[in-house]
Amino acid sequence: MPDLSTSYAGLTLRSPIIIGSSDLTDSVRKIQQLEESGAGAVVLGSIFEEEIALEHESVMAGLRAQGRDLIDYDSYEYHIRAQHLDSVTQLIRDAKKSVSIPVIASINCVYSHEWTTFAKFLEDAGADALELNMFFLPSDMSRDSKETENLYFEVIRRVRQEISIPIIVKMSYYFSSLLQLIRRICDSGVAGVVMFNRFYSPDFDIDKMEIMSSKVLSSPEEFPISLRWVALSYGRISCEIAASTGIHDSTAMIKQFLAGAQVVQVVSALYMHRRGYVRTMLDELETWMDRKGFGCLDDFRGKLSQAESKDPALFERVQFMKFFQGPGRG
Ligand SMILES: Cc1cc2nc3c(=O)[nH]c(=O)nc-3n(C[C@H](O)[C@H](O)[C@H](O)COP(=O)(O)O)c2cc1C
Repeated sequence: MPDLSTSYAGLTLRSPIIIGSSDLTDSVRKIQQLEESGAGAVVLGSIFEEEIALEHESVMAGLRAQGRDLIDYDSYEYHIRAQHLDSVTQLIRDAKKSVSIPVIASINCVYSHEWTTFAKFLEDAGADALELNMFFLPSDMSRDSKETENLYFEVIRRVRQEISIPIIVKMSYYFSSLLQLIRRICDSGVAGVVMFNRFYSPDFDIDKMEIMSSKVLSSPEEFPISLRWVALSYGRISCEIAASTGIHDSTAMIKQFLAGAQVVQVVSALYMHRRGYVRTMLDELETWMDRKGFGCLDDFRGKLSQAESKDPALFERVQFMKFFQGPGRG
């Protein structure tokens, strides 16, 4: 039997499939089922600071409409914040008693001082690592790229001062010097990077002439975006890579390991299939490794990365020139 165990961001995992941050992991029962089906670790849904602020605003608007004196509700935001934190910290405590796989907490905050407060609570509750779901949309025309990038480093610096569990950064790819930024993030003391997060995107309903949400779940066609950057990063950065987005089957997962991923994160595929789908993906990985004669993941990890491939230039190709120059294409 091939050995599927792996290290990742200072953790030891029995398998390389991590269930990504989402409500797939929002109860102990679900986490137990994921462990039973072979998951190597789970990431809990993020604590969204913005969500707490919005909930507070909506409660205050309701009270205002009833003509209440808002002075009486001065500390209400702290109350809502405590409720959100309590439910996540309780989940971490209960999960840690019930499963043996690592439980990774996740935070997404807007104001930098909150990142550190939340991080400390999650560490104290027993989280094995902390994933920073960080994304500052570069839409502010008055802020240059350096200023935006500095925000990331400031958050990492502050969180590092506060906690000692491994820190993982869940990245976006909206950076002009992406590879350099990934390297700098790793050099700032981060143990792992998730490449990449997938964000809410607006779409239009052309009948109602309204803005709506684009598809919440990814499609299998999306995985080559991270494949390129995983392959370009492997062997050149100081932290381990979790490939994410569009990994819907064992073939996509194996490709990410060949590119150099340490682990993969899976979300949409599990919403589309049953939770036991993790087992199917692992069985197929084992069958493939057996067929190829690989005893462990390190036997083939990174073999098609840019650093190790025989044709490194292919990773830097961005135009389809030759494709359109074939016979009959003018
Ligand atoms: C319903 C749903 C909830 C999610 N919630 C979070 C979240 O709280 N924090 C986060 O960092 N990512 C969240 N994500 C993003 C996923 O963790 C993942 O990065 C994304 O879905 C891409 O992976 P996939 O192609 O395997 O779905 C969510 C995704 C979905 C579909």
